[in-house]
Parts: sequence; structure tokens; C-alpha cells
Amino acid sequence: MRYKIGSTGDLKEGESRALRAGDTSMVLYRLSDGFYATQSRCTHLFASLAKGKVLKDKCVQCPLHRARFDIRSGEVEEWANFPPGVQLLNAVRGEKALATFPVTEENGELYVEVPA
Ligand code: FES
Repeated sequence: MRYKIGSTGDLKEGESRALRAGDTSMVLYRLSDGFYATQSRCTHLFASLAKGKVLKDKCVQCPLHRARFDIRSGEVEEWANFPPGVQLLNAVRGEKALATFPVTEENGELYVEVPA
């Protein structure tokens, strides 16, 4: 399904915001080369990535245990590493990429594609 999710002027480069498209919660990001969307919750322990930091025009860092994900691909750049000792938890919460959703621009409007 395709959903209209806003306009290109809604975010400045390096910003992100939470949104819903149908039943799917996600975070929309504006990077230097366009707009991207990932699932809204971290795959480690489900913290909200809308409260995370966008780093170096590339990654979102989870606010809870600092896992970093490539926004464009969803791949893990660095797994949960904070505070010290969280690695024990990682034995049962192994690395897992974020789901990503294609975002397109048309006449200044943004659309996201979500699997049916
Ligand atoms: S919940 Fe995101 S790194 Fe733990």
C-alpha cells in the first residue's frame, strides 16, 4: 500500500519524525540525498528511534543502548554497547537489521510504500 506522509518541506536535512502509515509505525528521515523511512522501534529492545540521533548523514543511534543502524539500508552498523554490561543481554538479543520502507517524492509530496 502507498500512503501520503507529508511534504518535502516538513523536515530539514538531518531531522527525523515519527509517523504512521496505515497500521505501520515508522520514522521518516531527511538525509542529504533524500528521504528514508525505517521501522519505529529498535530491534534490540524496542526503544523509540524517533528519539534517537541522526549521525553523519548516515545512521540513527538508538537512545537506549546506542545501537546504530544505517538509515538507507537498515543494516546494523554497531550493536548495543551502552552501558557497560549490556553485552550480556546481547547474548539473547542478537543483531537484527531494521525494516526499511521506500519513500518517493512527487511534486513536493512524500509517499511511502508499505507491504500489504
Ligand atoms: S533498545 Fe535500542 S539498543 Fe537497546
